[in-house]
Amino acid sequence: MNQSSVGVAITGSGSATPKVTLDNQGLSKIVETSDEWISSRTGIKTRCLASPTESVTDMGAAAAREAIAMAEITPAELDLIILATSTADDLFGSASLLQEVLGASKAVAFDLTAACSGFIFGLVTAAQFIRTGTYQNILLVGADILSRWVDWSDRRTCVLFGDGAGAVVMQAHGPSDRLLGFELRSDGSQNDCLQLAYQSEAKELIPGVSVSKGTYQPITMNGKEVYRFAVQRVPEVLSKALFKANMRTDEVDWLLLHQANQRILDAVAQRLQFPDHKVLSNLANYGNTSAASIPIALDEAVRSGRIKSGDVIAASGFGAGLTWGQRFSNGEGDCQI
Ligand code: UT7
Repeated sequence: MNQSSVGVAITGSGSATPKVTLDNQGLSKIVETSDEWISSRTGIKTRCLASPTESVTDMGAAAAREAIAMAEITPAELDLIILATSTADDLFGSASLLQEVLGASKAVAFDLTAACSGFIFGLVTAAQFIRTGTYQNILLVGADILSRWVDWSDRRTCVLFGDGAGAVVMQAHGPSDRLLGFELRSDGSQNDCLQLAYQSEAKELIPGVSVSKGTYQPITMNGKEVYRFAVQRVPEVLSKALFKANMRTDEVDWLLLHQANQRILDAVAQRLQFPDHKVLSNLANYGNTSAASIPIALDEAVRSGRIKSGDVIAASGFGAGLTWGQRFSNGEGDCQI
């Protein structure tokens, strides 16, 4: 096939969240907070928390199986698996284990870390492999268990996050490309606004030779700065991607933002003049599930019939790094999303 003629389509979606939930009332028994404070500042009511025996790989596999079934392919047909996560079960990466668990014996697999932007960065990465004709069938999973990295005594952060996984299957789709435009950004100068950083002490092995011995520390965040960044940068990048796709805001059917805070969703929508009914939000039920938030919201909207074939979706992720990115897609014709 001529390389320039290969288009990308999302043909399946899936999601999985832990059964155990912790609502705001429950949180108020752990830290000094209230349902009123959390609901009014964030829109979050409850979140799902992975049990000590659950893993990113297990959750990712459950979401992946749903996406593969919807796409009507078999795991053996997958060429590539990308696992977007910041909380891999193994620091060397968990995508290979996911490949094994799914029985996707032919697939190359790797992890991609870009925090809450991971799913969007993964979509754009996967699209390049399809557009160049390298791969035809790609599984992209966004999965995170941030509850393991939250300081449960810090009310400024522990109320925000939840665990979950979402997945999509992306396939080569003839000449018509459903990825209408994208824009990715990083700004390391604000790296300290949101971190899950490694901290260590020097350990001397022999005189004159020291190594670092430590561990990752719980999430730290400058909430106000992250809020300011999201409300300013997301509309900018959205407008840029719209321009590249030669589209107007009113031609977009759904605004699918990383589910971080309802106030961020509302502010971005207002700036871009998106009416409320076009803004997808499931924050109340899950909180911020990092790389999983966009594919979980996408899957729910597809399965409930809200997103229909042919709809144009503007999706944007933003988070630690700092990173942010925007992707436009539509699902006309024979594909399901
Ligand atoms: O993927 C990206 C992830 N990060 C984000 O999306 C974060 C973006 N930022 C935010 O969503 C908001 O900044 C927060 C929801 C995190 C915080 O809202 P805020 O309006 O910026 O609150 P604040 O940090 O300025 O705190 C206001 C007050 C403080 O009390 P004092 O100093 O005014 O007495 C806090 O100690 O609210 C207090 N506070 C709380 N009170 C009850 C902070 N957290 C809580 C809490 N419950 N959970």
